[in-house]
Amino acid sequence: MTGKGGVGKTTVAVALGLRAAGEGKRTIVCEVSSQENASHIFDHSEVGFHEVEMAENLWSISIDPDESMREYVLLQLKVRAMRDLLFRSRIFTYLAAATPGLKELVTIGKIWELAQLDRKVKAGRKYDLVIVDAPATGHGIGFLQTPRTFAAIARVGPIHSQAQQLDRLITDQEHTGTAIVCLPEEMPVNESAALEHDLRSEVGVAVDRVYMNGLYPERFSKQEAEQLAKLTESENGLARSAARAGLSEHSRARSQRAQLSRLRRRVEAPVKTLPFLFEPELGVEAARQLAKRLH
Ligand SMILES: Nc1ncnc2c1ncn2[C@@H]1O[C@H](COP(=O)(O)OP(=O)(O)OP(=O)(O)O)[C@@H](O)[C@H]1O
Ligand SMILES: [Mg+2]
Repeated sequence: MTGKGGVGKTTVAVALGLRAAGEGKRTIVCEVSSQENASHIFDHSEVGFHEVEMAENLWSISIDPDESMREYVLLQLKVRAMRDLLFRSRIFTYLAAATPGLKELVTIGKIWELAQLDRKVKAGRKYDLVIVDAPATGHGIGFLQTPRTFAAIARVGPIHSQAQQLDRLITDQEHTGTAIVCLPEEMPVNESAALEHDLRSEVGVAVDRVYMNGLYPERFSKQEAEQLAKLTESENGLARSAARAGLSEHSRARSQRAQLSRLRRRVEAPVKTLPFLFEPELGVEAARQLAKRLH
């Protein structure tokens, strides 16, 4: 799930997760780089670096790079003394500071592990679907390209082959896809079109869907809007205010429809729409409502 900051990535990721879980798929939503997390939608205080079941069939994890690195080292190094030495020396802190992208690499490594049918961690059970609530655009592209960068730098050896394996997971168009979340405004539409282009041509990942999120309802026909316009001249103060409010929403809904048409013209992937939910805070019930609208 990718897109600009604040467009609804986490909300749509959870809605998609609920939808898949409802269809019987064992699903996990992963959040990365300790962003604002899915758990608040479920009123869960803390998810952390372990798999927590939020609803039937729907799991969540917050992928912490330090923990991912630790787990990776534990899985790789069979020699106990060596592991202890590595941990004691706080090697990851040094390595991560000296190696740009290492945090992203081990994060993707953990996503890869979650997606394995034969899980590497003890007592790990397989998932049918792994949803990644990716960092906001810009970082998102770089994030997905990390394995390729490492594979190129390492050239040979285990880092090279493992990084290649991660890149293959990302670019495996049969099993991996991205969805872009967009808002019905001019800039987000432009950025989503550019993002789709970069995801396809620079990263080589499939773009399966673009979700136009937060669309206002079209409450009034053209004739009704004309009647409302007349009402703004009314003697009655309340009627005037109500008419103005109605007209303002009407014009917003119309400009959103214009952006929706622009988006449809500018992206290749199918565009799906999600309504704006007029609620103070979106919780699990709201996410379920959105889930019904996803397909
Ligand atoms: N369809 C919708 N209707 C109403 N409010 C929405 C809708 N989708 C998202 N929101 C609200 O918009 C805000 C941003 O949503 P969300 O946190 O999912 O975005 P995000 O893209 O994950 O943001 P960030 O980039 O900060 O992680 C939240 O308060 C969320 O409840
Ligand atoms: Mg988010």
